[in-house]
Amino acid sequence: MRNIFIGGAWPYANGSLHLGQIAALLPGDILARYFRLKGDDVLFVSGSDCHGTPISIRAVQEGVLPGEITERYHKEFEYCFDKLGFTYDKYGRTDQPFHHQVVKDIFSALLEKGFIYKRIIEQFYCEKCRQFLPDRYVEGTCPRCSKPAKGDQCDFCSTILEPGDLLDKRCKLCGGEPVTKPTEHFFLALSEFQKRLESYVDNASGWRENAIGLSKRYLSEGLQDRAATRDLPWGIDVPLEGYEGKKIYVWIEAVSGYLSVSKQWAREKNMDWERFWNENTVAYYTHGKDNIPFHTLILPALLLGVGGLHLPDKIISSEYLTIEGKKLSTSRNWAIWVPYIIEKYNADSLRYYLTINGPEKRDADFSWREFVNRNNAELLGAFGNLVNRTLVFIHKSFGGKLPAAKSDPLITDQLDRLYLEVGKKIEDGEFKHALEQIFTFIRSANKYFDERQPWVQVKENITHCEETLYNCVQIIANLSNLLSPFIPFACDKIRVFLGIGKAWWEYVEIPAQQEIRQPEILFERIDKKNIEEESAKLGMKGT
Ligand code: MF3
Ligand code: ZN
Repeated sequence: MRNIFIGGAWPYANGSLHLGQIAALLPGDILARYFRLKGDDVLFVSGSDCHGTPISIRAVQEGVLPGEITERYHKEFEYCFDKLGFTYDKYGRTDQPFHHQVVKDIFSALLEKGFIYKRIIEQFYCEKCRQFLPDRYVEGTCPRCSKPAKGDQCDFCSTILEPGDLLDKRCKLCGGEPVTKPTEHFFLALSEFQKRLESYVDNASGWRENAIGLSKRYLSEGLQDRAATRDLPWGIDVPLEGYEGKKIYVWIEAVSGYLSVSKQWAREKNMDWERFWNENTVAYYTHGKDNIPFHTLILPALLLGVGGLHLPDKIISSEYLTIEGKKLSTSRNWAIWVPYIIEKYNADSLRYYLTINGPEKRDADFSWREFVNRNNAELLGAFGNLVNRTLVFIHKSFGGKLPAAKSDPLITDQLDRLYLEVGKKIEDGEFKHALEQIFTFIRSANKYFDERQPWVQVKENITHCEETLYNCVQIIANLSNLLSPFIPFACDKIRVFLGIGKAWWEYVEIPAQQEIRQPEILFERIDKKNIEEESAKLGMKGT
């Protein structure tokens, strides 16, 4: 038995979830479910990222306190993840006292060890608003492409900027011209970790290519020390007297959430968190590619700095999901919102499509046409059909009792191999290939049914017919194990039809005479008219 830690990225609680985020987070749930089936000890965590400028901006726009925004979206996220079948052991949030305390302790430990130090810097200040301006509150013209840009990056040409780089600088709040003023800030001494992080990244195994490439690029440019505090009204206070009003940089505290939520889980469940944070752990992290350096450099630096804490082992960093061939944009409503889609469509259909067409190694496109077609042809047409026709046949011709027969060694061999090979692919982060391999097998199982023609056998050779049905039921029972990390809702239903207990990652055989229930529908056919209707909603305001 292994200890498996799985950390899913923490979405900002400033707006609803969209499918791009789910595509990057779903691998975490597949892993968690799979390892539990193997009998491993799993801790699967995530939470809502409740600080950061996007949330402050949203609160100002709506004229409410930031806490109201985070409360609203945290609740919504919990609901959505639950509907999608995510099995977090603990889903936390960063705006709670427990997290604040853990982060302050980390900050103090790093300060004591000299990995966090003070430095005076010049920062933009608005005299009219009487406040220091966060990077994104300084707006102006991009020096590179001359389009309007914010002080952290240009959304048009993607250049990473410092507020000082902008031309015609203005305060986002009042439009006035900001000045610079000296202010004291804390810095994280990332450069101190250069050597150790180089060897950490060189020895990485089980990281996606994009994570290795980007981390190496940052390392070859040389790690720069980074401001660890900000002058902001909303966030976690620096735990030192005389620094009131300064908050800990959101990325430092957000990635610390993995540790804080583990500790919180342990306290609530009366478990120990250390076994998921020591060298006997395998730690997976799943997120989108824009989160890579925070998980491969900043988080490891913090953990090394504090000492005695296990670093990420596997980095499952996804590429992007485009929508109908175009870049996703939440502000232009070119996005598919989770609260909308989960009320209208089956969670398994979404999980299936986002996996078989996942942005694992390159960007993937969500298209309504493909979503509908694959649901109808693959989930319903191939898998649902195999289950349905087998179980209906047993009802019609064998009174709902599994007839006795011998299992075909060719089939049991194939199933044994699937457990091994699909398991390996899942552990390696190859979810798409894993699921494809299962579906290739499903097509061969349908072919077996077709070729053996049980509807003819039942009249001509009942023993052969019993053999066919017996083997098809064993196939279905084992598929309900193999597929349960991917499409758990349908697999649970099948287990009820077959009257079998908990899923397990190994070959099962249902005994003869077992009562089989009348199957219910596993997947609904999605009407093709939805393709047009849903596509037409993209980019429209207020949907
Ligand atoms: N909130 C960040 C984002 O949406 C992700 C934070 S992941 C964490 O990009 F682990 F650092 F929390
Ligand atoms: Zn630009």
